[in-house]
Amino acid sequence: MLYKYISVFFYLSLLLPYISADAVGKNGLVVSSKEAASQIGIDIHQKGGNAIDAAIGVSFALSVTHPSAGNLGGGGFMVIKFADGKSTTIDYREVAPIASSKNMYLDEFGEVITGLSTLSALSSGVPGTVSGLGYVHNKYGSMKWSSLIYPSIILAEFGYHLDAHNVSLLNNEYLKSKLSYYSSSKNIFTKENSFELNDLFIQKDLSRTLSRISDYGYKEFYNGLTSDLIVECMNKNGGIISKEDLNNYRPIEADPISFSYRDFNIVSMPPSSSGGITLALILKQLEYFDVSSYSFHDSKHVHTFVESEKRAYAERHKYLGDTRFVDIPYELLLSDEYSHDLFKSINDSLSTPSNDIYTQEITFDTESEETTHFSIIDKYGNCVSVTTTLNGWFGNGIVVDGSGFLLNNEMDDFSSKPGHPNMYGLVGSEANSIEPGKRMLSSMTPTIVSHKDNSPYLILGSPGGSTIITTVAQIVSNVIDFNMEIKDAVESKRFHHQWLPDLIQIENHSLSIETINKLESMKHEIKYRSSTGIGEANCIMIDNNYYYGAGDSRRGAKAIAY
Ligand code: DON
Repeated sequence: MLYKYISVFFYLSLLLPYISADAVGKNGLVVSSKEAASQIGIDIHQKGGNAIDAAIGVSFALSVTHPSAGNLGGGGFMVIKFADGKSTTIDYREVAPIASSKNMYLDEFGEVITGLSTLSALSSGVPGTVSGLGYVHNKYGSMKWSSLIYPSIILAEFGYHLDAHNVSLLNNEYLKSKLSYYSSSKNIFTKENSFELNDLFIQKDLSRTLSRISDYGYKEFYNGLTSDLIVECMNKNGGIISKEDLNNYRPIEADPISFSYRDFNIVSMPPSSSGGITLALILKQLEYFDVSSYSFHDSKHVHTFVESEKRAYAERHKYLGDTRFVDIPYELLLSDEYSHDLFKSINDSLSTPSNDIYTQEITFDTESEETTHFSIIDKYGNCVSVTTTLNGWFGNGIVVDGSGFLLNNEMDDFSSKPGHPNMYGLVGSEANSIEPGKRMLSSMTPTIVSHKDNSPYLILGSPGGSTIITTVAQIVSNVIDFNMEIKDAVESKRFHHQWLPDLIQIENHSLSIETINKLESMKHEIKYRSSTGIGEANCIMIDNNYYYGAGDSRRGAKAIAY
């Protein structure tokens, strides 16, 4: 009997440790918002494509299957860590049109005109997604461009079955009315009665647009029939994106923001995303605390975290904007001394009022969110982390007539006026004011964490507007400080502070009453978020050459491995 137990114990100790995840594999893994998109990514891996090929295929597939966020008419960011250990980033963020101007959303009294930067044709920046995908394909792809788009053409042409998340968005009263305003959108995205689960959703115009991009290359979007359709749509609806804007659009490849957190190296997105620098500022302050000794989600944990967040977001506000238009003091912001000074101003037992950190008047706060993140690793060890968006749900709700795709309302990410918050409640500064050709500041934070020996460990990111950065920071800390497996790190409840408004936003059923009472006694204000939760972090952990994928259950994401 004893012998039997000893041999079972011996056998078990030879097995790999089990890590909770939605999908486990060794040859390839894709975690995205939609099952069909993840499957297309895996098919590309299986046909011999690399992670960059898969990212292109998944992106196009999300433009069909996740039309509220996946896109052709928006922009995004990609962080790549190659199997040889090098990293790079691609910025295919939208830019302000040539005819844009600093005060374009203000009335004659200098007040912001409601809806102009979110719901009108004027709210669109020049789209970057198709150019970004074309750029990475030319430089790092290995499969034929058309073969990467073909599966998405089929999905658009013959349809796919709507999932619960699609249906909940399409049937949402507010979104339905937004999509009903323009007949080009109404015809595709609304119907007399409600959409039903598993309805077949066919998009013929989109299929034709994808076919043109497939046949004539990514530039077709910027100088072919598609560009004519975009300009026609602008002329018809009072927008300002011109043929010249489209011809001029270029993605930008740049080195990532690199920093370390405890024993790990992190690469993330540089400006025009604020993600990398703000993430570094949060984690570098946190490093001075012994977080692993705290009880998860007790008042000490939450207090330490939100005080670091507040200070990091105030720095974001002060300094960050499109690096080609404003001087960003990179070295200073990323220096140990700077984070140490921020950390030293944290009071262990009392909340620091946001206005004591940095003073700024604001007018109101709102919340809204829809973007999509996916993470990919291939059998060679190439890692890709992508966050892409139209900004608001279904962008500005305008489908370009005859093209089948929606336009972004990313211009709202600029500061329309100092002190006026955008739809995520983020307050604008001069560094992020509107200028022709400038990229609006983003919070998207595609991120890759590596071990000290430079082997990849985590591929991370999330949608969620201003909450993206704090979501990624919490997942990093959940894994590194609290030793969580990837699924637990992703599913754990989240909290968020963005300096202004001065309050901790928490998910439903997250913090205990005891923690909330204690935080309130430390002078923190606490607010529950709406029922949607914070973010949708679709992430990967790499352990012992195995890939573990976690699709965030908050929006029904899907991880597929092989
Ligand atoms: O770039 C940004 O920060 C925002 N436009 C992202 C919007 C977003 O994440 C909406 N999310 N769910």
